[in-house]
Amino acid sequence: MNLFDQLDTTENQALEEISRATGPEILQQLETNYLSRKGILRGFFGQMAALPDEQKPQAGEAINRLKKVIEEKITEQRKILAAAPQTRLPEGFFDISLPGFEKVTGSFHPVYRTMQELSAIFVRLGFNIAYGPEIETEFYNFTALNIPLDHPSRDAFDTFYLSDSSVSNTGRLLLRSHTSPVQVRIMEKTKPPLQVIVPGKVFRPDTPGPSRFPMFHQIEGLMVDENVSFANLKGILSLFIREFFGSETRMRFRPSFFPFTEPSAEVDISCVICGGTGDRCPVCRGEGWLEILGAGMVHPKVFEAVNYDSEKYTGFAFGLGVERMAMLKYSINDIRLFTENHLKFLEQF
Ligand code: DAH
Repeated sequence: MNLFDQLDTTENQALEEISRATGPEILQQLETNYLSRKGILRGFFGQMAALPDEQKPQAGEAINRLKKVIEEKITEQRKILAAAPQTRLPEGFFDISLPGFEKVTGSFHPVYRTMQELSAIFVRLGFNIAYGPEIETEFYNFTALNIPLDHPSRDAFDTFYLSDSSVSNTGRLLLRSHTSPVQVRIMEKTKPPLQVIVPGKVFRPDTPGPSRFPMFHQIEGLMVDENVSFANLKGILSLFIREFFGSETRMRFRPSFFPFTEPSAEVDISCVICGGTGDRCPVCRGEGWLEILGAGMVHPKVFEAVNYDSEKYTGFAFGLGVERMAMLKYSINDIRLFTENHLKFLEQF
């Protein structure tokens, strides 16, 4: 490449580099590269010596012109940079317009959440919360609750017994099949008046299905004092049901049987799906009613087992299934969803 072509190339390159310079230090560096005593233009003057004499004045002029062009371009770029807003961010600068990092927050499991909602209602109605062991003895799970030896719930098909060696002084050990044994544990330790609920896990060897699972949750309720009546039971449960399912929900008591209550009742609510009309409703199967819990007046035999004076005290008890409550309230059609841990399901709560 002859000198004149080199000057052209250098001019293009220099102008481009200068216009891309983003700070004064870079411009300073370019100025040194091109214009200093050891710079590129100096080199061109050196090459002039090799040119034929008649080309020398022309070459000198061209190099001087390029020098001027570069100087002017650098001055111009200095002005542009000085006028432009700070390109380097001040220390500690925080750009609030940047999109944020999404924080993935967890949520409460629907069963836990429902348990909290249910408990909160009873706490407002004056109940305390108590807990009992998940591994129980036959005495607490059955005997003290007046459940006779030949009752089907005592059968190995209906209860998880721990291995035969696990015998305590109150009978064989088992996974509790309901939260009712905690009634006995509380009354053994506390004198009336008492008003408690007991949330917790219960276990039954059922084959999993849409409405059955070997582990689920219950909330037990117990209120004992002088003059506690069936009317109190109805009052508490109707307040609770309207609070949890909505004020338009109706309630009915059906006579029933539990060994640990007398009289006993099963409590239904008007169907939360069809509103009680039963009209082609798959949830209540046309009945208009849904069973939600068992309840009754504490049996004198249970009071005897805990040395309460059954002439002086009366009480009511009830037991409800937490998963069933959640399924009805949130229209969940399969109890197994609670333990399958699909995020698509859990994230809805
Ligand atoms: N323990 C009963 C069950 O698991 C439910 C129950 C019914 C509890 C009546 C009660 C009650 O306290 O009074 O099926």
